[in-house]
Amino acid sequence: MNELDSLVTSAQALFAQSATPADLENAKAQFLGKSGRITELMKGMAALSVEEKKSRGAAINVAKQAIEAALNARRQALADAELETQLKAEALDVSLPGRTRTTGGLHPVSLTLERIEAIFGSMGFDVAQGPEIETDWFNFTALNTPQDHPARSMHDTFYVEGGSSEAPNLLRTHTSPMQIRHAVQHVKRYRALMDAGQVMPEIRVIAPGRTYRVDSDATHSPMFHQCEGLWVGENVSFKDLKVVFTDFYRTFFETDDLVLRFRPSFFPFTEPSAEVDIQFASGPLAGRWLEVAGSGEVHPNVIRNMGLDPERYIGFAFGMGTDRLTMLRYGVSDLRLFFDGDIRFLSQFQ
Ligand code: DAH
Repeated sequence: MNELDSLVTSAQALFAQSATPADLENAKAQFLGKSGRITELMKGMAALSVEEKKSRGAAINVAKQAIEAALNARRQALADAELETQLKAEALDVSLPGRTRTTGGLHPVSLTLERIEAIFGSMGFDVAQGPEIETDWFNFTALNTPQDHPARSMHDTFYVEGGSSEAPNLLRTHTSPMQIRHAVQHVKRYRALMDAGQVMPEIRVIAPGRTYRVDSDATHSPMFHQCEGLWVGENVSFKDLKVVFTDFYRTFFETDDLVLRFRPSFFPFTEPSAEVDIQFASGPLAGRWLEVAGSGEVHPNVIRNMGLDPERYIGFAFGMGTDRLTMLRYGVSDLRLFFDGDIRFLSQFQ
């Protein structure tokens, strides 16, 4: 093998060993660079005769072209390999199913609240909304539950900064403060009418919403929902409460095979007070008494805090746990499922 052939062979070998484009450029410089082997050979021709220059030049050129060809082939191979790895790294699995946008729906607790509003609405009740951060006055004192009243101990809750009538400071423990808030507004609206000797139009309202207590197990959540009810007029009695309640629960559960029991109880804001239990005649819960609400005739002190004369106005109030109703209606045994936000559970109610 002559000198030029072995130069070409060593160039090919060095290019083949170059694993990256940078290695390859370094290898190229050894042969084709300013002081590369080919360039040196060209310079070395200066002393040759014209004839010799011709044949030697032609031979060097052949070698040079062979080296350039080897260089270009290796460049192409490295570029192809790089593209290959890049394509592998960015591979798209076109067989993956696309992401679909599903239709949302109402939470089961919201479905229950809507249902409650529709049923009471059909009986002439308004729907009121109130704040979840309450004052001590509306949550307790106005409801005949002054500071140090033992009934407060059942309503431990979450307190925040503040604590004046301008700065509410506790998460309401029940929806009952809405009795006062709503009645005060109502009385204000009809004050002039009453001052002119007319009778106040009846207060008939429900107030559904979130409530809070320091309580947590399968049937108690620190945040839960209630629906308050209030009906005050000149002659609203316990008898009316029984009719309204019986009607409501039978409509809600879509069955007449349901009986109610009013169990004597105590709430500071009602006198007399009763807890309400329902019992189904058939179905999985047949024969069991299920506690569903607290109720009673509104206490004279509460009527007074509404701005009304208890000698003239009387009525009933109730507070029902609506999460319990949702559990009963759908046969759910753990209340916490409602608030975990698991779409597999929630989508079953659509
Ligand atoms: N607020 C009571 C509670 O959360 C429930 C209740 C009982 C509300 C009697 C009432 C009522 O309006 O009259 O335990």
